[in-house]
Amino acid sequence: MQTSTIELNKVALTLNERTILHDISLIINEGEFVAILGPNGAGKSTLLKLLLGLYKPTAGNIAILGKSPKRGNRDIGYAPQHRTLETDLALRARDVVGFGLDGNQWGITLPNKNRDKYIEQALDEVDMLHLANMPVGQLSGGEQQQLLIAQALLTYPKILILDEPLSNLDIIHSEGIVSLINKIARSRKMTVLLVTHDVNLLLPVIDKVLYMANTHCAIGKPEKVITNDNLTQLYGSPVEVIKARGRLFVIGEET
Ligand SMILES: Nc1ncnc2c1ncn2[C@@H]1O[C@H](COP(=O)(O)OP(=O)(O)O)[C@@H](O)[C@H]1O
Ligand SMILES: [Mg+2]
Repeated sequence: MQTSTIELNKVALTLNERTILHDISLIINEGEFVAILGPNGAGKSTLLKLLLGLYKPTAGNIAILGKSPKRGNRDIGYAPQHRTLETDLALRARDVVGFGLDGNQWGITLPNKNRDKYIEQALDEVDMLHLANMPVGQLSGGEQQQLLIAQALLTYPKILILDEPLSNLDIIHSEGIVSLINKIARSRKMTVLLVTHDVNLLLPVIDKVLYMANTHCAIGKPEKVITNDNLTQLYGSPVEVIKARGRLFVIGEET
């Protein structure tokens, strides 16, 4: 039988006596592209940190490629939420990507030998090789996001986790980043988890949505998960899904 890429079984997490996640069970298979949705504070980033081994579940089990989560897992490439390059503006693009090799805060290290090769391959993959020596302060928001993705790709991870990579981008740049991620993920057969507030940009490329609210979650194909009944149950209050011109709008979700 095929081992799932990510499996959670009745996972709960309590932090400082607050229940953040309750009874989360889900399976994500190899090569699936999953959008993670839900209101602010729903526990999206916290769930990702469980997968990264940065928190331990209070109850239940988590398996990543059949093993318990661990810090510095090279099978996972991660770009955290609210990562800005402001403090690094004078650094060149290639230096920033290189942080992915330098034992950064996720504890990933690679030998120096093939350093430049890895960095240039990753830059090339996100269409940024021509800007390798540019100070990051001179790059656009979209280009900076491409660099963070290149950094996350450096160890050839099987799983790519991107926490709100589109939050500071306009629609055109968001579409560009989504299609870039999709192209890379499909060619590498990588599993992608991407947190976003606008599912519409992702509908053309995703296999599943993971909708989180109220410490619970629902997972499945978008048209199965994003329905009036399902979301009303998840939120515990009336929610209406409106479909217009192939787009989905969720009304009442913050109540
Ligand atoms: N270390 C912590 N201790 C207590 N509560 C926390 C901690 N980290 C996050 N939280 C709370 O967990 C909830 C979920 O946070 P988060 O995962 O960041 O939500 P999201 O990413 O969906 O916006 C929030 O209410 C937040 O305040
Ligand atoms: Mg978050």
